[in-house]
Amino acid sequence: MRLFVSGAAGFLGRALLTSARGSGVEVRGLVRRAEQAKGITALGATPVLGDLLEPREYASSLAGCDAIVHLAQSSSGDLEELRQVRVEGARRLIEAAVAQGVPRVVLGSGYWVYGDVPGTLVESSPLRPLHLSQLNYEAEEVARTAGSRRSIDPVIARPGMVYGPGSWLASWAKELQEGTFRYVGDGSNHMSPVHWKDCGEAFLRLSSHGVRGATYLVADDRPVTVRVFSEALASQLGVASPTGIPLERAQADWGPDLALLNAANRRASNSALRALGWTPSYPSYLEGLPEVCRELSGRSRGDPRAPRRVGTSRAGLSRKLRRT
Ligand SMILES: NC(=O)c1ccc[n+]([C@@H]2O[C@H](COP(=O)([O-])OP(=O)(O)OC[C@H]3O[C@@H](n4cnc5c(N)ncnc54)[C@H](OP(=O)(O)O)[C@@H]3O)[C@@H](O)[C@H]2O)c1
Repeated sequence: MRLFVSGAAGFLGRALLTSARGSGVEVRGLVRRAEQAKGITALGATPVLGDLLEPREYASSLAGCDAIVHLAQSSSGDLEELRQVRVEGARRLIEAAVAQGVPRVVLGSGYWVYGDVPGTLVESSPLRPLHLSQLNYEAEEVARTAGSRRSIDPVIARPGMVYGPGSWLASWAKELQEGTFRYVGDGSNHMSPVHWKDCGEAFLRLSSHGVRGATYLVADDRPVTVRVFSEALASQLGVASPTGIPLERAQADWGPDLALLNAANRRASNSALRALGWTPSYPSYLEGLPEVCRELSGRSRGDPRAPRRVGTSRAGLSRKLRRT
């Protein structure tokens, strides 16, 4: 199998490349900057230098691919720039892929497109895409529309909270260390973690086995409350447990949409993905978090692979926006 991955140097992109390495799957990874190419090669993939919004820069690399996986997102704080990469980028990539005869697109979205779901969250649960999750929803729509024209087979992936040495977990860790992390209310709403390597495996599986037009939640076997997860993270880091803030205060401080997003219950089922033959190697955060925390602290002690967002102004932004 041959895949073309946008956002290959990003958090989920690296997860996918790590899973593909040595599996016999050939990956062509789109990166914008020459210095990112080395990292792609080190993960056993072929770097393709180009901007997602300029298809002529990468169109020829789509030829012969069995699927494209769209994971690129902008790091801009500007909503229109974010929309350009997520949504318009999806449209241009899919158009270019169709022109090259690529039969499938796996659209990387996130489970934040759902509203508050009191019971088990399944693929068909009610949607309420707020704030940045609206962009993931719009990108999904681009893929579904292309699918309805029968020009390409769309498969939608909605990962839960992908924990690994980077992304939101690094931001949470930083805020816990600074004592500024807060959950909403008593933190009894559930989140659905999934280890980054299992998420990479899920994207591979969806690329080959995902059913045309279907949507898949990507989560491990054990949803956990935000309070319990953040306490477990604090304990791994050796810092004090966090506390909550009332919903009204979260609404005032973060804005109503972000407060709602962060207060929502999301207890995702992975049955549909399991039915495709995917099994998490880390059934819960209890197995995966200690190793990830060791990697995280190794990196923050000066390892050159340190996640670039820790300590940047975007880290705080990404915790509140939780761009997942
Ligand atoms: N992280 C999670 O836990 C999580 C969970 C669920 C869903 N998701 C979803 O998964 C998707 C990817 O998330 P992520 O965390 O992997 O993002 P990320 O770490 O920010 O990576 C995004 C990548 O896209 C690249 N990119 C941005 N603009 C580009 C352009 N114009 N052309 C080519 N590449 C471009 C960036 O490259 P530069 O370095 O050049 O900017 C970056 O490498 C998002 O839709 C997110 O909502 C993430």
